[in-house]
Amino acid sequence: MQKIIILDFGSQTTQLIGRRVRELNTFCEILPYNKYPEDDKDVIGVILSGSPLSVYQEDAFHIDLNHIRGRLPILGICYGAQLISYTYGGKVESAGTREYGRQNLQYIDRECPLFKGFDDHSQVWMSHGDSITKLPEGARIAASTETVENAAYYIPEKQPVFGTQFHPEVFHSLQGTLLLKNFVVDICGSRQEWSAEAFVETTVQELRQQIGKDRVILGLSGGVDSSVVAVLLHRAIGDQLTCIFVDHGMLRKNEFHDVMRDYECLGLNVIGVDASEKFLSDLAGVKEPEQKRKIIGRDFVEVFNAEAQKITDAKWLAQGTIYPDRIESLNITGKVIKSHHNVGGLPKDMHLQLCEPIRWLFKDEVRRVGRSLGMPEHLITRHPFPGPGLAVRILGDITREKIQILQEADAIYINNLREAGLYDQIWQAGAILLSEVRSVGVMGDERTYENPIALRAVTSSDAMTADWAHIPYEVLAKISNEIINKVKGVNRVCYDISSKPPSTIEWE
Ligand code: XMP
Repeated sequence: MQKIIILDFGSQTTQLIGRRVRELNTFCEILPYNKYPEDDKDVIGVILSGSPLSVYQEDAFHIDLNHIRGRLPILGICYGAQLISYTYGGKVESAGTREYGRQNLQYIDRECPLFKGFDDHSQVWMSHGDSITKLPEGARIAASTETVENAAYYIPEKQPVFGTQFHPEVFHSLQGTLLLKNFVVDICGSRQEWSAEAFVETTVQELRQQIGKDRVILGLSGGVDSSVVAVLLHRAIGDQLTCIFVDHGMLRKNEFHDVMRDYECLGLNVIGVDASEKFLSDLAGVKEPEQKRKIIGRDFVEVFNAEAQKITDAKWLAQGTIYPDRIESLNITGKVIKSHHNVGGLPKDMHLQLCEPIRWLFKDEVRRVGRSLGMPEHLITRHPFPGPGLAVRILGDITREKIQILQEADAIYINNLREAGLYDQIWQAGAILLSEVRSVGVMGDERTYENPIALRAVTSSDAMTADWAHIPYEVLAKISNEIINKVKGVNRVCYDISSKPPSTIEWE
């Protein structure tokens, strides 16, 4: 399949470039800047990302562009454009002050195919501390702004080279998607064949070939990723798939039953395991967040393994790993940081092979695939929920009584978000029980001395950064009243107005 390679020089917006290319129904891979593949026969073009570094710095990330240039079209964005310039006889210098924000193009070379269809004063987004003061050899200015002469350039060769000082991938570059389309479709020749439907069709065929008559085990969580994997596999191999859904006792109100019913309606072969007794007794008296996580992780592996061992002829373990889990993002030192790993200590002695059919998808693509598989909307749009569940939303030790209080408060919160039409605008929401804090209140004629509930809701695109959601006061007021009136043990409700960073989404 045709693909675009995006070489990552450590910019925060590299993933966004990937998402924009995929939105053009074109497959792309994001690779660390120095990991260009040896075999590039399917590659139709290369994009060089931005970076927090300066190309003239001693420890800047440099690569040999000669084995790409002349063979494939190249687009350099910000640092990428500077790197091309620096490599091929141009000059890059500190701009003195950092240029950050919206700018309008003042001049556009109408012969440059990158800007085909652009409006005269199109708005672009700048974020750079260095400027290209001399273009690379053979290059022409493609666009300028009032303050940046070389805002974009091109070298018109058979396999052309382009550089933009601005960031077409960010929302504030209003015609950024058009620019990327010009590059990906017109210049690189993408046939735009990457779609949810095409993905389902080819993946189902590949899974059939890969798995043959073998049996597959899949751990379900109720979340969209593992659910989509289940339905994909079910379509490919039917009852050769056995799913295991572990109830650790800290799910949301009625969640275990509701999700089991959904899965059964989808025709999946699911074993539901109620292991709440084990988890809660092992967690008794434990307050420290990391210790809670360790116990839950260990118990989960034990319970899952015990069920998996019963499926003696299983050959494969399927997982809902998605692309952002696997992208090797770089930090400024050039070290690769893995933010997350899905493959955690599961049945080693069973010698299962790993099957990760959605490992190339971004979250929004997983949802599109889910829709194309005909899954119910509430399963597809469900907010992410942490593996340890409400355990990391009860500050202090965990008891059945506290879980029940939190489940009730959380259910009121989430139902109200749904009723107000806010649920789908929010990345993730949940209630937190501050079980070690008590405050005074008055109910009727009686003094109360009970726990507060904190409400958390964030907007985000990948959970790496998040902003607190601006829920209208009226909705918050209704939620607060309903929780305090209906949930015994709670006499105060607070709203969390912290962003990530420096806070995190979960409280523990
Ligand atoms: P934080 O709290 O780190 O959360 O901002 C980022 C995202 O990860 C989820 N999360 C977890 N998921 N096991 C999980 O499976 C965990 O221990 C865990 N901790 C946080 C969190 O809900 C959010 O979506």
